[in-house]
Amino acid sequence: MSVHDHGVGSTSYDATADNVDGAVSRETEDAFAGLNDDAGSPLANELIETERKRRALESADFPRPTRTRIFAVSNQKGGVGKTTTSVNLAAALAQRGANVLVIDADPQGNASTALGVDHREGTPSIYDVLLDDTPMAKVAQRSKEIPSLWCIPATIDLAGADIELVSVVRREFRLHDALHELLEGPGKNLDYIFIDCPPSLGLLTLNAMVVAHEVLIPIQCEYYALEGLTQLIKTVEMVRKHLNKQLELSTIVLTMYDARTNLAREVANEVRSHFPQQTLEQTIPRSVRVSEAPSYGRTVITHDPHSSGAVAYLAVAKEIAERGAPAQQNRGTA
Ligand SMILES: Nc1ncnc2c1ncn2[C@@H]1O[C@H](COP(=O)(O)OP(=O)(O)OP(=O)(O)O)[C@@H](O)[C@H]1O
Ligand SMILES: [Mg+2]
Repeated sequence: MSVHDHGVGSTSYDATADNVDGAVSRETEDAFAGLNDDAGSPLANELIETERKRRALESADFPRPTRTRIFAVSNQKGGVGKTTTSVNLAAALAQRGANVLVIDADPQGNASTALGVDHREGTPSIYDVLLDDTPMAKVAQRSKEIPSLWCIPATIDLAGADIELVSVVRREFRLHDALHELLEGPGKNLDYIFIDCPPSLGLLTLNAMVVAHEVLIPIQCEYYALEGLTQLIKTVEMVRKHLNKQLELSTIVLTMYDARTNLAREVANEVRSHFPQQTLEQTIPRSVRVSEAPSYGRTVITHDPHSSGAVAYLAVAKEIAERGAPAQQNRGTA
């Protein structure tokens, strides 16, 4: 559906409407099936704890930002959870009442798939915005499941954009210019924007960092986790120095965390020791529900709201909402 007539982010959404009280997660059901009333087992305790946490989050207040917060979700390492974090965090915040836009800036179009929006070849997309000056409002699609969640899809056309952009005027500012046009008009009520970057530090990622206020880095808790991080941080510094003074590496989310392995704990400790301010308390566990949700064109937030993955992303959303933007954290509102 075109958003042209309604305005992106203009919906006021009843956050309670989609709550699924009383429903039990399939993850919970599956696990209990194997427990045989062994209610004191670590797994049973974990499930009870997840449900307790979900209920607390359901009734908690998620403060809304005083101005639109724009995140570039980036890590040039592939498969670390950039897309999963972008869409689930966006869905969690939108479900709790915020107006949220996800910009799919990856030719793979995974965020578009996960949000269930059309992104077949030829669909008006971020490519048209970047290369043909199409207004963002004309290509944004509303999520069918959460009305205050929007997505600007990516199609396979975007695969050539890194090269095509090279010869375009203001090539690093294409996304910046288009997004500011949206924010001054139909997107003025947006609370959060997440730009799902590709696994590279090319022009698409650069465009995202030029318009973003914050960089969110998902880090997978595995052996090579910190490799490549120096280069990513150098890129953030370079963008801040030359192209976007507002940019801050504000948030690190530890993904696919398995608390039972020493390696995951060691990696998490190492990340925390390097980035104590940025690393969120809440980690995202490895969960089948998280990985299967995109095949239904859904985020885990709607696919299985009681699952450990959904609850973890809701907790991450709350932490990000409560911490506020870096300007709010450190220097008062800009
Ligand atoms: N918490 C999780 N539990 C289980 N599987 C997960 C979890 N997070 C991500 N995955 C799976 O790991 C894979 C990589 O995740 P994702 O696509 O989000 O990473 P990415 O960084 O966006 O990848 P790319 O670099 O290709 O864009 C996907 O198959 C996804 O379903
Ligand atoms: Mg991705």
